[in-house]
Amino acid sequence: MKSPRPRVKKQRLSKSLSGKKILLIVSGSIAAYKTGDLIHDLKTQGASVTCVMTECAKHFVTPLVLRALSGHKVYEDFFSSDTPYDVLHTSLAEEHDVILAAPASANFLARLAAGMANDLASCIVLATRKPVLLAPAMNDQMYRHMLTQANLKKLKGAGYQIIEPIEGHLVCGKEAVGHISDSQTVIGKIRQVL
Ligand SMILES: Cc1cc2nc3c(=O)[nH]c(=O)nc-3n(C[C@H](O)[C@H](O)[C@H](O)COP(=O)(O)O)c2cc1C
Repeated sequence: MKSPRPRVKKQRLSKSLSGKKILLIVSGSIAAYKTGDLIHDLKTQGASVTCVMTECAKHFVTPLVLRALSGHKVYEDFFSSDTPYDVLHTSLAEEHDVILAAPASANFLARLAAGMANDLASCIVLATRKPVLLAPAMNDQMYRHMLTQANLKKLKGAGYQIIEPIEGHLVCGKEAVGHISDSQTVIGKIRQVL
């Protein structure tokens, strides 16, 4: 008689962001090329990801790539009529659980710190009361500049979570601070605010 097959316990994969809707803002940093991996990791955790891009971000990664990887329409234009919403920025600001800007360029941070709302991405951040997480990525001198640091301090004071950049290889060839934080750290921070 055959001995019973050992039961393999199905490992429970923790989908810590199950059912969560994340609005991912991509701005003009070289680190935008990594957005595909971040989307993949967020989706693996059960999140739904919708992307908004600044005009400049499109130099670093295409809307087509983000649409294919996220499985959702990518929003780039404030005034587009090709959306299911009457008012795009307020609807996107309200219907997501978290707003994540990754990468957040120095320019984007400066615009947010100044309270500007001159494109779809900045307008969404101003219009939301949901948790906002910002993952800066830039050259180390840009990051350490007193104006960037002042902007980050102001943004923290406004209640935004800053996901600090790490030391790593920068596009200028240096190993220095300014490298975007890894996606596991980003996911960990999202979990903390939900
Ligand atoms: C090759 C290249 C790489 C760049 N990388 C960065 C970067 O990592 N971080 C950053 O803050 N700006 C970077 N910039 C500059 C931004 O693209 C520029 O400040 C732009 O105005 C940002 O616009 P946005 O914030 O509206 O997306 C880079 C520019 C070039 C040409």
